[in-house]
Amino acid sequence: MKFDLDDTEALYKRDGASAIFNVLGYPEACLEAYELEPSHLPKLRVVPQKIIIAGMGGSGISGDIIATWLQNKVKVPIISIKDYDLPSYVDENTLVVAVSYSGNTEETLNAFLQALKRKAQVLAVTSNGKLREYCQKIKIPFVHVPSKFQPREAIIYLTIPIASFFEKLELVSDLSNEIKATAKTLQKIRSQIRPEVSLEKNPAKNLALQILNTIPVIYGAGIQRPIAYRVKCQLNENSKIHAFYGTIPEMNHNEIVGWSYMQSTDLSVILLRYPKEREEIKARIEIIKFLFLEKKAKRILEIWGCGEKVLEQMFSTMFIGDMASLYLAFLRNINPLEIKPIEKLKRELEKKGTKQRILQELADITNTHLNSL
Ligand code: PA5
Repeated sequence: MKFDLDDTEALYKRDGASAIFNVLGYPEACLEAYELEPSHLPKLRVVPQKIIIAGMGGSGISGDIIATWLQNKVKVPIISIKDYDLPSYVDENTLVVAVSYSGNTEETLNAFLQALKRKAQVLAVTSNGKLREYCQKIKIPFVHVPSKFQPREAIIYLTIPIASFFEKLELVSDLSNEIKATAKTLQKIRSQIRPEVSLEKNPAKNLALQILNTIPVIYGAGIQRPIAYRVKCQLNENSKIHAFYGTIPEMNHNEIVGWSYMQSTDLSVILLRYPKEREEIKARIEIIKFLFLEKKAKRILEIWGCGEKVLEQMFSTMFIGDMASLYLAFLRNINPLEIKPIEKLKRELEKKGTKQRILQELADITNTHLNSL
Protein backbone atom coordinates (compact mmCIF):
# COMPACT_ATOMS: atom_id res chain seq x y z
CA MET A 1 0.00 0.00 0.00
CA LYS A 2 1.26 3.47 -0.90
CA PHE A 3 2.33 5.65 2.02
CA ASP A 4 -0.17 8.44 2.65
CA LEU A 5 1.69 11.76 2.42
CA ASP A 6 -1.24 13.44 4.14
CA ASP A 7 -0.78 11.34 7.28
CA THR A 8 1.31 14.02 8.96
CA GLU A 9 1.95 12.06 12.11
CA ALA A 10 3.35 9.10 10.18
CA LEU A 11 5.33 11.49 7.98
CA TYR A 12 7.08 13.15 10.91
CA LYS A 13 7.70 9.70 12.38
CA ARG A 14 9.41 8.55 9.19
CA ASP A 15 11.50 11.72 9.30
CA GLY A 16 13.25 10.87 12.54
CA ALA A 17 16.21 13.11 11.76
CA SER A 18 14.35 16.41 11.19
CA ALA A 19 15.10 16.62 7.48
CA ILE A 20 11.69 18.24 6.93
CA PHE A 21 12.32 20.76 9.66
CA ASN A 22 15.72 21.70 8.23
CA VAL A 23 14.42 22.25 4.71
CA LEU A 24 11.41 24.19 5.96
CA GLY A 25 13.91 26.45 7.73
CA TYR A 26 15.25 27.87 4.43
CA PRO A 27 13.47 31.25 4.79
CA GLU A 28 15.10 32.00 8.15
CA ALA A 29 18.38 30.50 6.94
CA CYS A 30 18.54 33.19 4.21
CA LEU A 31 18.55 35.95 6.81
CA GLU A 32 20.83 34.15 9.25
CA ALA A 33 23.35 33.20 6.58
CA TYR A 34 23.54 36.81 5.43
CA GLU A 35 24.38 37.90 8.97
CA LEU A 36 27.23 35.40 9.42
CA GLU A 37 30.48 37.28 9.87
CA PRO A 38 33.76 36.03 8.41
CA SER A 39 36.67 35.30 10.78
CA HIS A 40 38.20 38.49 9.34
CA LEU A 41 38.21 40.30 6.03
CA PRO A 42 41.04 39.94 3.55
CA LYS A 43 42.91 42.97 2.39
CA LEU A 44 42.65 42.42 -1.34
CA ARG A 45 46.17 42.87 -2.74
CA VAL A 46 44.65 43.44 -6.16
CA VAL A 47 41.12 43.59 -7.52
CA PRO A 48 40.61 39.99 -8.71
CA GLN A 49 40.43 39.44 -12.44
CA LYS A 50 38.47 36.22 -11.98
CA ILE A 51 36.81 34.28 -9.20
CA ILE A 52 36.88 30.52 -8.69
CA ILE A 53 34.53 28.69 -6.34
CA ALA A 54 35.84 25.20 -5.58
CA GLY A 55 33.69 22.58 -3.90
CA MET A 56 32.03 19.21 -4.40
CA GLY A 57 28.50 17.79 -4.18
CA GLY A 58 26.19 19.54 -1.75
CA SER A 59 28.83 22.20 -1.16
CA GLY A 60 29.96 22.61 -4.77
CA ILE A 61 26.46 23.45 -6.00
CA SER A 62 26.79 26.75 -4.16
CA GLY A 63 29.45 27.74 -6.73
CA ASP A 64 27.04 27.04 -9.60
CA ILE A 65 24.30 29.05 -7.91
CA ILE A 66 26.58 32.00 -7.18
CA ALA A 67 28.02 32.00 -10.72
CA THR A 68 24.51 32.29 -12.16
CA TRP A 69 22.98 34.56 -9.54
CA LEU A 70 25.77 37.11 -9.66
CA GLN A 71 26.73 36.83 -13.34
CA ASN A 72 25.22 40.22 -14.16
CA LYS A 73 26.22 41.86 -10.90
CA VAL A 74 29.92 41.03 -10.54
CA LYS A 75 32.15 42.40 -13.26
CA VAL A 76 34.62 39.52 -13.44
CA PRO A 77 34.02 35.89 -14.43
CA ILE A 78 32.92 33.51 -11.68
CA ILE A 79 33.79 29.90 -12.39
CA SER A 80 32.59 26.92 -10.41
CA ILE A 81 35.17 24.11 -10.20
CA LYS A 82 34.29 20.63 -8.98
CA ASP A 83 37.57 18.78 -9.16
CA TYR A 84 41.03 18.34 -7.65
CA ASP A 85 42.77 20.74 -9.99
CA LEU A 86 42.42 24.44 -10.59
CA PRO A 87 42.86 25.72 -14.14
CA SER A 88 46.31 27.02 -15.05
CA TYR A 89 44.99 30.60 -15.20
CA VAL A 90 44.57 30.66 -11.42
CA ASP A 91 47.25 33.02 -10.16
CA GLU A 92 47.80 35.90 -7.74
CA ASN A 93 45.10 37.89 -9.57
CA THR A 94 42.48 35.26 -8.81
CA LEU A 95 40.12 35.05 -5.87
CA VAL A 96 39.52 31.42 -4.88
CA VAL A 97 36.70 30.45 -2.52
CA ALA A 98 36.98 26.92 -1.14
CA VAL A 99 33.62 25.55 0.05
CA SER A 100 33.34 22.32 1.98
CA TYR A 101 30.70 21.73 4.60
CA SER A 102 32.68 19.00 6.37
CA GLY A 103 35.96 20.72 5.61
CA ASN A 104 37.46 17.32 4.84
CA THR A 105 36.67 16.75 1.17
CA GLU A 106 39.79 15.58 -0.67
CA GLU A 107 39.18 17.39 -3.95
CA THR A 108 38.35 20.69 -2.25
CA LEU A 109 41.38 20.47 0.04
CA ASN A 110 43.57 19.90 -3.01
CA ALA A 111 42.06 22.91 -4.80
CA PHE A 112 42.63 24.96 -1.63
CA LEU A 113 46.25 23.77 -1.52
CA GLN A 114 46.79 24.69 -5.18
CA ALA A 115 45.27 28.12 -4.61
CA LEU A 116 47.70 28.74 -1.76
CA LYS A 117 50.66 27.51 -3.83
CA ARG A 118 49.71 29.83 -6.70
CA LYS A 119 49.42 32.74 -4.25
CA ALA A 120 45.79 33.36 -5.16
CA GLN A 121 43.69 35.34 -2.70
CA VAL A 122 41.86 32.64 -0.79
CA LEU A 123 38.62 32.56 1.22
CA ALA A 124 36.65 29.62 2.60
CA VAL A 125 33.21 28.60 3.78
CA THR A 126 33.05 25.56 6.06
CA SER A 127 31.58 24.16 9.23
CA ASN A 128 34.63 22.26 10.39
CA GLY A 129 37.44 19.85 9.51
CA LYS A 130 40.85 20.41 8.00
CA LEU A 131 39.70 23.34 5.90
CA ARG A 132 38.74 25.25 9.02
CA GLU A 133 41.89 24.13 10.83
CA TYR A 134 44.21 25.39 8.07
CA CYS A 135 42.23 28.61 7.58
CA GLN A 136 42.76 29.33 11.27
CA LYS A 137 46.45 28.42 11.15
CA ILE A 138 47.32 30.42 8.01
CA LYS A 139 44.82 33.20 8.78
CA ILE A 140 42.74 32.66 5.67
CA PRO A 141 39.41 34.49 6.04
CA PHE A 142 36.56 32.02 6.39
CA VAL A 143 32.89 31.90 7.30
CA HIS A 144 32.03 29.28 9.87
CA VAL A 145 28.56 27.92 9.12
CA PRO A 146 26.33 26.02 11.61
CA SER A 147 27.45 22.40 11.89
CA LYS A 148 24.15 20.63 12.62
CA PHE A 149 23.20 19.80 9.03
CA GLN A 150 23.99 17.40 6.23
CA PRO A 151 25.94 19.37 3.59
CA ARG A 152 23.03 19.53 1.14
CA GLU A 153 20.68 20.77 3.87
CA ALA A 154 23.07 23.65 4.47
CA ILE A 155 22.82 24.96 0.90
CA ILE A 156 21.63 28.40 2.01
CA TYR A 157 24.47 28.71 4.54
CA LEU A 158 26.98 27.60 1.93
CA THR A 159 25.76 30.02 -0.73
CA ILE A 160 24.75 33.34 0.82
CA PRO A 161 27.98 33.87 2.83
CA ILE A 162 29.98 33.71 -0.43
CA ALA A 163 27.85 36.51 -1.87
CA SER A 164 28.14 38.42 1.35
CA PHE A 165 31.95 38.03 1.24
CA PHE A 166 31.84 39.57 -2.27
CA GLU A 167 29.68 42.39 -0.98
CA LYS A 168 32.10 43.13 1.85
CA LEU A 169 34.93 43.14 -0.67
CA GLU A 170 32.93 45.58 -2.82
CA LEU A 171 32.78 43.19 -5.75
CA VAL A 172 29.00 43.48 -5.67
CA SER A 173 26.69 45.96 -3.99
CA ASP A 174 23.55 45.89 -1.90
CA LEU A 175 22.31 42.33 -1.79
CA SER A 176 20.30 42.90 1.32
CA ASN A 177 16.98 43.71 -0.43
CA GLU A 178 17.25 40.66 -2.62
CA ILE A 179 17.96 38.41 0.35
CA LYS A 180 15.07 39.83 2.38
CA ALA A 181 12.72 39.43 -0.59
CA THR A 182 13.91 35.85 -1.03
CA ALA A 183 13.22 35.02 2.62
CA LYS A 184 9.68 36.43 2.22
CA THR A 185 9.00 34.51 -0.96
CA LEU A 186 10.25 31.30 0.63
CA GLN A 187 7.95 31.90 3.61
CA LYS A 188 5.00 32.05 1.23
CA ILE A 189 6.10 28.87 -0.50
CA ARG A 190 6.59 27.16 2.85
CA SER A 191 2.93 27.72 3.65
CA GLN A 192 2.10 25.71 0.52
CA ILE A 193 4.57 22.83 0.77
CA ARG A 194 4.64 21.98 4.47
CA PRO A 195 3.41 18.52 5.50
CA GLU A 196 0.16 19.90 6.96
CA VAL A 197 -1.00 21.05 3.48
CA SER A 198 -2.87 18.26 1.71
CA LEU A 199 -1.61 16.62 -1.44
CA GLU A 200 -4.03 18.33 -3.81
CA LYS A 201 -2.88 21.81 -2.71
CA ASN A 202 0.76 20.95 -2.06
CA PRO A 203 3.05 21.28 -5.11
CA ALA A 204 5.97 19.44 -3.46
CA LYS A 205 3.89 16.41 -2.40
CA ASN A 206 2.28 16.40 -5.80
CA LEU A 207 5.63 16.48 -7.57
CA ALA A 208 6.92 13.59 -5.45
CA LEU A 209 3.87 11.47 -6.22
CA GLN A 210 3.99 12.24 -9.94
CA ILE A 211 7.61 11.18 -10.32
CA LEU A 212 7.31 8.08 -8.12
CA ASN A 213 8.43 5.00 -10.12
CA THR A 214 9.81 7.13 -12.95
CA ILE A 215 13.29 8.40 -13.80
CA PRO A 216 13.03 12.18 -13.72
CA VAL A 217 14.89 14.35 -16.19
CA ILE A 218 15.04 17.92 -14.98
CA TYR A 219 15.46 20.76 -17.44
CA GLY A 220 16.18 24.39 -16.69
CA ALA A 221 16.94 27.42 -18.82
CA GLY A 222 18.79 30.61 -17.82
CA ILE A 223 18.82 31.11 -14.08
CA GLN A 224 17.17 27.73 -13.49
CA ARG A 225 20.13 25.78 -14.90
CA PRO A 226 21.99 25.27 -11.63
CA ILE A 227 18.72 24.52 -9.86
CA ALA A 228 17.94 21.77 -12.37
CA TYR A 229 21.26 20.22 -11.36
CA ARG A 230 20.55 20.77 -7.66
CA VAL A 231 17.15 19.06 -7.91
CA LYS A 232 18.71 16.13 -9.77
CA CYS A 233 21.30 15.73 -6.99
CA GLN A 234 18.66 15.98 -4.26
CA LEU A 235 16.65 13.22 -5.96
CA ASN A 236 19.82 11.13 -6.18
CA GLU A 237 20.87 11.61 -2.57
CA ASN A 238 17.63 12.14 -0.63
CA SER A 239 15.19 10.02 -2.63
CA LYS A 240 17.88 7.55 -3.75
CA ILE A 241 16.76 7.30 -7.35
CA HIS A 242 18.44 7.86 -10.67
CA ALA A 243 17.70 11.31 -12.09
CA PHE A 244 19.23 13.29 -14.91
CA TYR A 245 19.31 16.91 -15.89
CA GLY A 246 19.81 19.00 -18.96
CA THR A 247 19.65 22.62 -20.01
CA ILE A 248 17.54 24.55 -22.50
CA PRO A 249 18.31 25.54 -25.25
CA GLU A 250 21.31 23.18 -25.32
CA MET A 251 19.11 20.05 -25.19
CA ASN A 252 17.44 21.26 -28.40
CA HIS A 253 20.70 20.42 -30.15
CA ASN A 254 21.12 16.84 -28.95
CA GLU A 255 18.74 15.30 -26.39
CA ILE A 256 15.57 15.78 -28.45
CA VAL A 257 16.99 13.22 -30.88
CA GLY A 258 17.30 10.73 -28.02
CA TRP A 259 13.75 11.52 -26.93
CA SER A 260 12.30 11.02 -30.41
CA TYR A 261 13.92 7.66 -30.99
CA MET A 262 13.11 6.25 -27.56
CA GLN A 263 10.82 3.19 -27.70
CA SER A 264 9.26 2.95 -24.30
CA THR A 265 9.91 5.09 -21.33
CA ASP A 266 9.82 5.37 -17.60
CA LEU A 267 11.15 8.89 -17.85
CA SER A 268 9.31 11.88 -16.47
CA VAL A 269 10.21 15.49 -17.21
CA ILE A 270 10.42 18.33 -14.71
CA LEU A 271 10.69 21.75 -16.33
CA LEU A 272 11.93 24.51 -14.05
CA ARG A 273 10.44 27.74 -15.29
CA TYR A 274 10.52 31.41 -14.35
CA PRO A 275 8.48 34.40 -15.48
CA LYS A 276 11.43 36.28 -16.98
CA GLU A 277 12.50 33.54 -19.37
CA ARG A 278 13.29 34.96 -22.79
CA GLU A 279 10.38 34.75 -25.24
CA GLU A 280 12.55 32.51 -27.44
CA ILE A 281 12.96 30.06 -24.58
CA LYS A 282 9.22 30.03 -23.86
CA ALA A 283 8.60 29.28 -27.55
CA ARG A 284 11.21 26.52 -27.60
CA ILE A 285 9.70 24.86 -24.54
CA GLU A 286 6.23 24.83 -26.10
CA ILE A 287 7.61 23.32 -29.32
CA ILE A 288 9.65 20.60 -27.64
CA LYS A 289 6.79 19.71 -25.34
CA PHE A 290 4.43 19.26 -28.30
CA LEU A 291 6.87 17.62 -30.72
CA PHE A 292 8.87 15.33 -28.47
CA LEU A 293 8.25 15.22 -24.74
CA GLU A 294 4.48 14.73 -24.62
CA LYS A 295 4.78 11.68 -26.86
CA LYS A 296 7.53 10.00 -24.87
CA ALA A 297 7.63 11.13 -21.24
CA LYS A 298 5.37 9.44 -18.72
CA ARG A 299 4.64 12.86 -17.25
CA ILE A 300 5.62 16.47 -17.84
CA LEU A 301 5.61 18.66 -14.80
CA GLU A 302 6.41 22.33 -14.47
CA ILE A 303 7.62 24.20 -11.42
CA TRP A 304 7.58 27.96 -11.64
CA GLY A 305 9.97 30.17 -9.75
CA CYS A 306 8.33 33.22 -8.25
CA GLY A 307 9.26 36.71 -7.16
CA GLU A 308 10.97 39.59 -8.93
CA LYS A 309 14.62 39.04 -8.10
CA VAL A 310 16.95 36.39 -9.48
CA LEU A 311 17.65 34.71 -6.13
CA GLU A 312 13.93 34.51 -5.28
CA GLN A 313 13.23 32.77 -8.55
CA MET A 314 16.14 30.36 -8.14
CA PHE A 315 15.54 29.49 -4.50
CA SER A 316 11.77 29.14 -4.91
CA THR A 317 12.07 26.25 -7.39
CA MET A 318 14.90 24.77 -5.32
CA PHE A 319 12.71 24.88 -2.20
CA ILE A 320 9.89 22.96 -3.91
CA GLY A 321 12.35 20.49 -5.47
CA ASP A 322 14.15 19.89 -2.18
CA MET A 323 10.89 19.25 -0.29
CA ALA A 324 9.68 16.97 -3.08
CA SER A 325 12.90 14.92 -2.77
CA LEU A 326 12.07 14.36 0.92
CA TYR A 327 8.45 13.44 0.24
CA LEU A 328 9.62 11.00 -2.41
CA ALA A 329 12.04 9.44 0.09
CA PHE A 330 9.20 8.94 2.57
CA LEU A 331 6.95 7.49 -0.15
CA ARG A 332 9.77 5.01 -0.78
CA ASN A 333 10.27 4.41 2.95
CA ILE A 334 13.84 5.62 2.73
CA ASN A 335 15.93 7.70 5.11
CA PRO A 336 16.72 10.83 3.06
CA LEU A 337 19.80 11.76 5.05
CA GLU A 338 21.71 8.49 4.81
CA ILE A 339 24.29 8.47 2.02
CA LYS A 340 26.10 5.21 2.69
CA PRO A 341 27.58 4.82 -0.84
CA ILE A 342 29.28 8.24 -0.65
CA GLU A 343 30.65 7.48 2.81
CA LYS A 344 31.87 4.07 1.67
CA LEU A 345 33.69 5.58 -1.30
CA LYS A 346 35.30 8.22 0.90
CA ARG A 347 36.51 5.51 3.32
CA GLU A 348 38.00 3.49 0.46
CA LEU A 349 39.72 6.57 -0.94
CA GLU A 350 41.24 7.38 2.45
CA LYS A 351 43.19 4.12 2.14
CA LYS A 352 44.81 5.35 -1.07
CA GLY A 353 46.71 8.03 0.80
CA THR A 354 45.90 11.01 -1.44
CA LYS A 355 44.31 12.99 1.36
CA GLN A 356 47.30 12.28 3.60
CA ARG A 357 49.58 13.69 0.93
CA ILE A 358 47.42 16.81 0.54
CA LEU A 359 47.33 17.32 4.31
CA GLN A 360 51.12 16.86 4.54
CA GLU A 361 51.61 19.53 1.86
CA LEU A 362 49.19 21.82 3.68
CA ALA A 363 51.15 21.27 6.90
CA ASP A 364 54.44 22.07 5.07
CA ILE A 365 53.01 25.26 3.54
CA THR A 366 51.70 26.28 6.96
CA ASN A 367 55.09 25.77 8.61
CA THR A 368 56.86 27.78 5.90
CA HIS A 369 54.26 30.50 6.27
CA LEU A 370 54.52 30.61 10.07
CA ASN A 371 58.35 30.59 9.97
CA SER A 372 58.36 33.54 7.60
CA LEU A 373 56.35 35.71 10.02
O1 PA5 B 1 25.40 15.88 0.04
C1 PA5 B 1 26.45 15.42 0.45
O2 PA5 B 1 26.60 15.00 1.62
C2 PA5 B 1 27.64 15.32 -0.48
O3 PA5 B 1 27.29 15.65 -1.78
C3 PA5 B 1 28.77 16.21 0.05
O4 PA5 B 1 28.37 17.55 -0.01
C4 PA5 B 1 30.05 16.00 -0.78
O5 PA5 B 1 30.50 14.68 -0.65
C5 PA5 B 1 31.18 16.95 -0.38
O6 PA5 B 1 31.36 16.98 1.01
P1 PA5 B 1 31.45 18.42 1.74
O7 PA5 B 1 30.16 19.10 1.40
O8 PA5 B 1 31.55 18.10 3.18
O9 PA5 B 1 32.65 19.07 1.18
